[in-house]
Amino acid sequence: MSQTQTTFPRFIPLLGGLLGSTTCGMLLYAFSVFIKPLQAQFGWTVPEVAMAYAIICLLFGLMTFPAGRLSDKFGPRKVVLLGGLIMAFGFFMVSTITPPDPAVIAAGGDAAKVAGKTQLYLLYLYYGVIAGLGGGCVYLPPIATAPKWWPDRRALATGFAVVGLGLGSFIMAPLATVMINHFGSALPVFKYVGVAMGIMVVLASLCLKVPPAGYKPAGWNPPAPTGADAHKECRDYTHDETKRSAQFWLLWIAYFCGSFAGLMVIGLIAKHGIDAMTIAYRVKEGLAATAALPTDVSKSIAMAAAGAPSALAIFNALARIIIGPLADKIGTRKIFIVLFSIQVVAMLLLFPAGKTAAMLAVVAGVIGWNYGAMFTLFPSTLLSYYGPCAQGSNYGLLFTAWGVAGFFGPYLGGKLQAMTGSFLVPFVVSAAVLVIAVVILATIKAPEKKHA
Ligand code: 2OP
Repeated sequence: MSQTQTTFPRFIPLLGGLLGSTTCGMLLYAFSVFIKPLQAQFGWTVPEVAMAYAIICLLFGLMTFPAGRLSDKFGPRKVVLLGGLIMAFGFFMVSTITPPDPAVIAAGGDAAKVAGKTQLYLLYLYYGVIAGLGGGCVYLPPIATAPKWWPDRRALATGFAVVGLGLGSFIMAPLATVMINHFGSALPVFKYVGVAMGIMVVLASLCLKVPPAGYKPAGWNPPAPTGADAHKECRDYTHDETKRSAQFWLLWIAYFCGSFAGLMVIGLIAKHGIDAMTIAYRVKEGLAATAALPTDVSKSIAMAAAGAPSALAIFNALARIIIGPLADKIGTRKIFIVLFSIQVVAMLLLFPAGKTAAMLAVVAGVIGWNYGAMFTLFPSTLLSYYGPCAQGSNYGLLFTAWGVAGFFGPYLGGKLQAMTGSFLVPFVVSAAVLVIAVVILATIKAPEKKHA
């Protein structure tokens, strides 16, 4: 293979990944902030609004596969630009949905229940379908592109391409809250943030291009093949060969398990904290199990519980970057086994930890860390198994696991909690699902190298 160099600064695609993934974080991970204000304005129920989130997760996740294939074929710039503008358009269009007469909503009853039904389908269309499909096109190409510029630091480059998912949620939740309080409605947030997303994705797309064939950074030489592969020229897997390898589908199952467990509990953590701290307060004060709490106590419990999702978001973002250099050094496999095993324990500790804000925040931070690390570790593992040539298509297909998990995980979590009246069951189910992933990740072996 010829070894090519170029004068294009290779940190630029990292910036593209950072910007693009931040728009995805703004799109996906602050949705819970919108639920209450949308309910109040449109008279929708929580499950009705939550369905928009399930739809966006599914379509975002499923779209990554065609987006990866398109990126492998036409390059990342065009896919991110077109997909990003579609995403920004969908998000913006939510701001044009006309709320029903506030008097009808305030009066409640059947009239309020049907008043906003057509608008609900518009939310599903604009946010769930249009923004979701566009978002998948923004998410995937940088993950496939950045590591091609950093063959010496692939996991680190992958981390940059996904760190914005954590950052975006970290910025967007407080920003949206301030805007909602300012405007008295969630709708203007979609308008202004939609425009900002449009600008960000144009800039992100300009930062992305693939390196010339055979590119290697100055002063770096690929490690020589060892063992049975020594003295043979190796080549990357094609996408079809990747799909035919059993390891790929084992990774798909492990990714599904990790995402399903994570997404199932992420939506429940704050509510669990409020519940558990309320019970602990009643026990401490010798109150009856159903006794109402003084308003100031309820407020301070809600604020204390809100520390948990914040801790989760911070560590979710940090892990994506910090885990990269570690994985580049000691390999993804060992880190995977350790993190997923810790995640099993963290899920089991989550229930008792709910009683105090500090313990809950610590466990939530650990869960966020392990969850965020997956988004660097899975694409890096794929790269090391199958090589960078078909990484867009390969990772796009693998990431559908997250989409399916995002559709069912939060829904089932809420359902199990409602059915059993306790958060213990969804947390134990999450731990059990993660055990499957630990077994897979501990036993999976890298596929044999293909020889040129
Ligand atoms: C991530 O957090 C979108 O869930 C995906 O990177």
